[in-house]
Parts: sequence; C-alpha cells; structure tokens
Amino acid sequence: MTGKKSKLPRIAGYSGGLVVKAGPLVDSKPATDEPVASGGIVAIYSVKGGVGKTTFAANLAWCSAQAGRRTLLWDLDAAGGAGFLYGIEPEADHPASDMFARLRSPKRLIRSTAWDGLDILPADESIRALDSQLLRLGKRRRVAKLAEELAASYDTIVLDCPPVLNELSAQIMRAADLVIVPLPPSPLSARALDLVRREVAGDGRNHPPILPVLSMLDLRRALHREARDAQPSWPAIPYASVVEQCAVRHLPAGALAPQSPAALAFARLWSAIAAKLEERIGARA
Ligand SMILES: Nc1ncnc2c1ncn2[C@@H]1O[C@H](COP(=O)(O)OP(=O)(O)O)[C@@H](O)[C@H]1O
Ligand SMILES: [Mg+2]
Repeated sequence: MTGKKSKLPRIAGYSGGLVVKAGPLVDSKPATDEPVASGGIVAIYSVKGGVGKTTFAANLAWCSAQAGRRTLLWDLDAAGGAGFLYGIEPEADHPASDMFARLRSPKRLIRSTAWDGLDILPADESIRALDSQLLRLGKRRRVAKLAEELAASYDTIVLDCPPVLNELSAQIMRAADLVIVPLPPSPLSARALDLVRREVAGDGRNHPPILPVLSMLDLRRALHREARDAQPSWPAIPYASVVEQCAVRHLPAGALAPQSPAALAFARLWSAIAAKLEERIGARA
C-alpha cells in the first residue's frame, strides 16, 4: 500500500463537538490489517434520492480542499450532479465507463475546478448500467481498487453515490473509510438509515463507520424539531436558500455566503469527518 498521509489540518474554531461517538446507530468495527488507501475515502450515500447527497458531496469536497487537502470529488451517479454543481460537463469522447473496464486510467478522466486542490472525476450516461458492468466484469473490488489508486494522489476522495442497493453500492462500501448518510427529518429516513446500515455491514468483514447527518433541517417545523431532539448528537445541515443557489450559481455555499449558517454547518461537518478519518486511518497505520 502507498504511504500514509500526514496529520489532517483542522478548521479554525471547530470545537470537536460533532464527532459521532460509537453508539447504537454508528456501525464500527475494529480495524484489521487489510490494505487501505493512503487518502481518506468518504462516501456520501443513501438508498434514497433527493436527500442531499450531491449537495453534501460538492460542499464537503470544497471544505476539504479549503482545509489544504488535495481533494477529488468522484461522481458515481450517472445523473452527473456533482460535476454540474461545479459547471463541469461530461466529455462524450471519454466515457466514464472506460475506467471501470480498465480501458482508460481514471486519472485521465479527472478535471480540475476553479478551486485550488479540488478536482472532479465526472460521471456521465455511460455509467447508467455500472451495476451490471461490474457484475459482468466479476471484479468485486474494482471500485475499491480504483479508489486506492486515486488515493495515492489525493488526501481526500469524496464519492457522490447513486441511490441504489446493488453491486455498485456494495463495492462502494468496500472502498469507503467512512459513510455519510444525509437524512431529511422524516419517518422514512429511519427506514433508509436501517437499509444503509445493513448494506454497509455487507459481507460482515471490516466495514466503514456510518455518520448519519440531518439534512435540510427546518426548525420552524415541529417534525424537524422532534427529529433533531431525538438525535441531538447528529450533525445537521439547515434548509437554506444559499444551498439551493449552489446549483444555480455553480458555487459551494462556503463561497456564496461564507458566514451563512449552512456554510458554517458544512465546515463543522467537514471537521468532524476529518477527525473521524484521522482516527480510522491512523488506527490502521
Ligand atoms: N440544505 C438544503 N437546503 C435547501 N435545499 C437543499 C438542501 N440540501 C439539498 N437541497 C436541494 O434538494 C435537492 C436535492 O438535493 P441533492 O443534493 O441533489 O440530493 P441527492 O443527490 O440525494 O439526490 C436539490 O434541489 C438541492 O438543491
Ligand atoms: Mg445526487
């Protein structure tokens, strides 16, 4: 395996209060001596669509780059939302499916963004059937192998995942050091989290911890207040028009309105993730 990274930088002012402690909703197993990537691999995943995955992925990747880490935002959803949020269009003559078939190095598909230290590995329609492509290839660790290869050049890789429960999600779980699950406050979210926990537990071997995060939290609504009170230790991202504007302006919340509650919530969440990654990867070093 490639060398370990140095200590992770912290975001100034972060108190550490959002780091999720081991508890009934956090799946964590002791580290084994399985090979790991040098950079931290964070999957933003849920079985549900429209919960904020792409928004989290784009904003957290930006926070990581701002903290001085070489960061890759890897879009694994054929809808291509992560690239779109940064104004990056897929290139028709370089289909993303080629990297999974090993026809092209993933590094040749990477695009840089306007931000220092932030690159994107975009998705396109060619990975609409990635699940069956992976099954056909019969390589259960293809996503993990690609991620490990990429992690030699990046300190953080953020995976924007499609809302699926199939071979692709199983492979993502094998690749990830940490799984972030955005959960809009709704009774359906508890069910979604349960499904994610089962998917992450997967084949029962060393699996990544899960960090559930309340998404689109609107404290004017009683149901949302109840959800927050039921899980006071979970990080939360508020419902905010600045977040909606990310897709319109092709900019992260931290660039649009650095002092807005949503931008600050993403910065705190990133700090919690960095601490969690340091703990997990450090334990394996
Ligand atoms: N905190 C938030 N406040 C307001 N709108 C949000 C917030 N998070 C996500 N959205 C909006 O919700 C929609 C779905 O978000 P998205 O990140 O695309 O979800 P997913 O990737 O899970 O399908 C988008 O229109 C996005 O702008
Ligand atoms: Mg998405």
